[in-house]
Amino acid sequence: MVKLKRMLVLFWTFGMAFQDSIPSSNSINQINSLTSSHEKIVNVAHRGASAYAPEHTLVSYQMGEKMNGNFIEIDLQMTSDGHLISMHDERVDRTTNGTGLVKNMTLKEIKQLDAGSWFNEKYPHYAKNEYEDIQVPTLEEVFKAFGQGANYYIETKSPTVYPGMEEKLLKLLEKYNLTGVNGEPSYVILQSFSTESLKKIHKLNEHIPLVQLLPDSSPERISDFQLASIKENAIGVGPSFKEINQEYIEKVRKSGLQIHPYTINTSEDMKKALKWGVNGIFTNHPDLFHEVLKNIEQETK
Ligand code: G3P
Ligand code: CA
Repeated sequence: MVKLKRMLVLFWTFGMAFQDSIPSSNSINQINSLTSSHEKIVNVAHRGASAYAPEHTLVSYQMGEKMNGNFIEIDLQMTSDGHLISMHDERVDRTTNGTGLVKNMTLKEIKQLDAGSWFNEKYPHYAKNEYEDIQVPTLEEVFKAFGQGANYYIETKSPTVYPGMEEKLLKLLEKYNLTGVNGEPSYVILQSFSTESLKKIHKLNEHIPLVQLLPDSSPERISDFQLASIKENAIGVGPSFKEINQEYIEKVRKSGLQIHPYTINTSEDMKKALKWGVNGIFTNHPDLFHEVLKNIEQETK
């Protein structure tokens, strides 16, 4: 089973990257041809199934898996005593009951925070008692909980604030046999807005698939120069869906790079993204994207 998963991931991460042509029509046939093999499209559970549970908690990641997300998306911050933790912001304020910068807090201090009650207050419709008092997980705890049975899409956040975070990340990946050493395919894609961080990772281990994230302030066009430079380290790009169009996606795909836009949360936009030729998406609603893919697959039969 693990071997089969490895093969599928290898196919997702590399197979699509080397397709040199994509359909050009806007018809439903185009979507069908792209999704006729369901596994080809990556369904990334963004911060877990973060529409339904507190983002970046084990419960959110578990829900992402249950809802058929193919990858658990994890943003990384680092504590003052050097532990990588799952958190989007540099400050703990938005997603816990604490206040302050992660870089100034020890893991012990982080562990005392309640990372779930804010969600119950903000989203009463999805609130659950069990979310109260849940802890911020370390990356190691995530690997222990999900092991090699899951696929991880991990982002180095604020790497300039946390010197050494890439080395620590790679050490942990090695410890849990997730690096693809000895030519083994990896369960992991690493992503960053920081090209420097990706370059550093690539130098440390050139086998790990990397995705260059592009900020939502990026121009709607991507230049040949930019694509060539991204290809030096990465196998794909992750732009904001708001900033791209079909022409943009076709250009990226023709360059041989994959494209996984963030963050798409409506079925209408999901269908549009598929029609335009994406290889996968980041979504807070992995269940919805799974349904969209399933419906398209059924229409093809
Ligand atoms: O990593 C893809 C997407 O998550 C980038 O934006 O701010 O949600 O990490 P952000
Ligand atoms: Ca992210």
